[in-house]
Amino acid sequence: MSENTALLTEEPIVDNVKNLVEEWEDVEGNLIMIFHGIQKHYGYVPRNVAKYVSEEINVPLTRIYEILTFYNYFTMEPPADNHISVCMGTACYLNGAKDLIDEVKSKLKLKGNEQYSEDRKYKLEEVRCIGCCGLSPVITFNGEVKGRVKPEDMSKLIDDNNNKE
Ligand code: FES
Repeated sequence: MSENTALLTEEPIVDNVKNLVEEWEDVEGNLIMIFHGIQKHYGYVPRNVAKYVSEEINVPLTRIYEILTFYNYFTMEPPADNHISVCMGTACYLNGAKDLIDEVKSKLKLKGNEQYSEDRKYKLEEVRCIGCCGLSPVITFNGEVKGRVKPEDMSKLIDDNNNKE
């Protein structure tokens, strides 16, 4: 993780969060409820907030990380401004989804398994079948489903989106 990313994951502990922890402190199974609330508030679970919860309710931070990494719903990375998901289900994979990923990685200069562009404007994610196999390969761009996508479409989508801003 870059230094910038680490800085971005620090968030103020707001009253909302303090109240949430107080409300659920003594309730069994409270961690899930607390972190649902935290993710709803920040859009992700910041590390310093996870540490705060750990200290407040006396649960080891390692236990909290176990829970946060077990459930796909939780994320410890701040959201990007734009989100690109490429389906890597069987039909999409066979119809060239990998080429779409490669194109986005090259366009956004993502190395290895990096998901975020350096300016955090884009997040690239590989997902499983999203149920539109007849349109493979399929992506979602900021939640909008697009089918029969070609590699050259990916750069254009990103360029068009940048020009909108
Ligand atoms: S495999 Fe991609 S939508 Fe089903």
